[in-house]
Amino acid sequence: MAPTGSKCPVCRRADARVFGEPDLQIRAPCSACADKLAAEALAKQNRDQLADLHERWSKLPALYRTTDPNHPHVNPRILAEVLKYDPRSSNGKGIGLYGPTGAGKTRMMFLLVRKLHFSGVKILFTSAVAIARAASQEFDDDQKTRGEARLLLRNAVTSEVLFIDDIGKERLTEAAELKLYWLIEERTANYRPILWTSNFVGADLRKMMSDNRGTAVTRRLAEFSSVLFVPAPYVQENERRFA
Ligand SMILES: Nc1ncnc2c1ncn2[C@@H]1O[C@H](COP(=O)(O)OP(=O)(O)O)[C@@H](O)[C@H]1O
Ligand SMILES: [Mg+2]
Ligand SMILES: [Zn+2]
Repeated sequence: MAPTGSKCPVCRRADARVFGEPDLQIRAPCSACADKLAAEALAKQNRDQLADLHERWSKLPALYRTTDPNHPHVNPRILAEVLKYDPRSSNGKGIGLYGPTGAGKTRMMFLLVRKLHFSGVKILFTSAVAIARAASQEFDDDQKTRGEARLLLRNAVTSEVLFIDDIGKERLTEAAELKLYWLIEERTANYRPILWTSNFVGADLRKMMSDNRGTAVTRRLAEFSSVLFVPAPYVQENERRFA
């Protein structure tokens, strides 16, 4: 009979590895069982991770979550360009989409956000309006309001990738402008990419802010993003015949 110490605690076969002093032995599973346990643990970890990704994804706005990449208003050439973007080899550079309202900027960026999110990139989706609101609420009298505002601002500056929707749509109070400026400076200085959309670019965007900050913000965004123009409305060839 094999000594009990040499039996695999899982399958009970007698070829387990035994560690430690004779009177303080630890029985490890046999190598076949060890491999199986490791594979199961990995599969469980992957399942948990995927469930977590789906859980976090479900919190994003439903309108954009359901974006169809083949929708006739989505420009496939620009979308292909957007989807090529990889934040892990971009040297801190992001992407900016600018163009008129309804061009599909937010939706195209969302398709990229989805791709990055499910490939494990920690990405925060927010809007310039939400940042402006947080800027006005970070010292709010209400503790919950204040806490939420600060959490958003902290996550916005630290997240691996940040998506700011609709820069230029927010009402730019002094506090909002300062916060946006701080956020962009802080992220670009640390090579953390920003994805953004705007109806404005260059001088038009600059004019919306005070002189020196407008210049700094637009320069940083231009320097740290590949900027693509999205014209509207896009109508696919096969649709044009019926238009
Ligand atoms: N399910 C869908 N998938 C993709 N695009 C859609 C879908 N439903 C509507 N759209 C189109 O999305 C466009 C609006 O896109 P959006 O990204 O909000 O524009 P922008 O951000 O440039 O203002 C409209 O042209 C609309 O027709
Ligand atoms: Mg939009
Ligand atoms: Zn075993």
